[in-house]
Amino acid sequence: MSLNKLQKFEALKSMPNVYENFSFTEPNLFRNQEEDNPKGFWKSKHFGNEYPLIIELACGKGEYSVALGEKYPDKNLLGIDIKGNRIHNGAKIALEKKLSNVCFLRTRIELMHEFILGEEIDEIWITFPDPFPSFSDRGNRLISPKFLDYYQKLLNGKKITFHLKTDNFPLFRYALGVLDGRGEKIVRCIENIYGQHKKIEDILRVQTYYEKLHMGQGSQIHYVQWEM
Ligand SMILES: C[S@@+](CC[C@H](N)C(=O)[O-])C[C@H]1O[C@@H](n2cnc3c(N)ncnc32)[C@H](O)[C@@H]1O
Repeated sequence: MSLNKLQKFEALKSMPNVYENFSFTEPNLFRNQEEDNPKGFWKSKHFGNEYPLIIELACGKGEYSVALGEKYPDKNLLGIDIKGNRIHNGAKIALEKKLSNVCFLRTRIELMHEFILGEEIDEIWITFPDPFPSFSDRGNRLISPKFLDYYQKLLNGKKITFHLKTDNFPLFRYALGVLDGRGEKIVRCIENIYGQHKKIEDILRVQTYYEKLHMGQGSQIHYVQWEM
């Protein structure tokens, strides 16, 4: 039986692989009904190891967090999204598959600095972020200069690999323009990843809820990887 939204919100409160931030003005984290903010100690305290920490921003139902966690048992995955009902899907699958290297954080991405030290982040995936097509909303794009500045400030000088997958061609072009304009090191850029003769690794073929939705409507999928 599938749960409705409210039932998922309730279930999240006792899932051992979900941390939730309920107040944006007094940011703190709860897990299993108790205050628990592993900032600076995600690897040792939550995962019980010192493996690299990969973050999926805008993780939605967490398909990438789960797929990366399955593919790389020696890496830790943390999916972040504000929508609890979506996170519930990924958290449930990770528990069913006994993926102890996958967990989820429900918060606004803008508050990540309250819960994660930049030094502990080793890689970031941004999967199908909302395109915010209106010019006045451009600051909400997770690839906007405002967010790139935020990630850089958080990382405090540490250079890591970023991955962006999107179906939205204007957003893809916007991302390339922003990255190029800032002089960031674009490592790989693939327009229409499933196009003929494109050689891509299996991990790029993981299809999220939104990817399937947009592909069903005939959209192509684009990918860019950069270091920053
Ligand atoms: C289009 S969905 C993509 C979800 C998933 N990655 C997928 O491909 O199915 C975008 C997601 O970004 C999340 N999101 C957008 N802005 C956010 C923010 N500032 N903080 C946290 N989550 C955000 C939304 O809640 C939503 O789940």
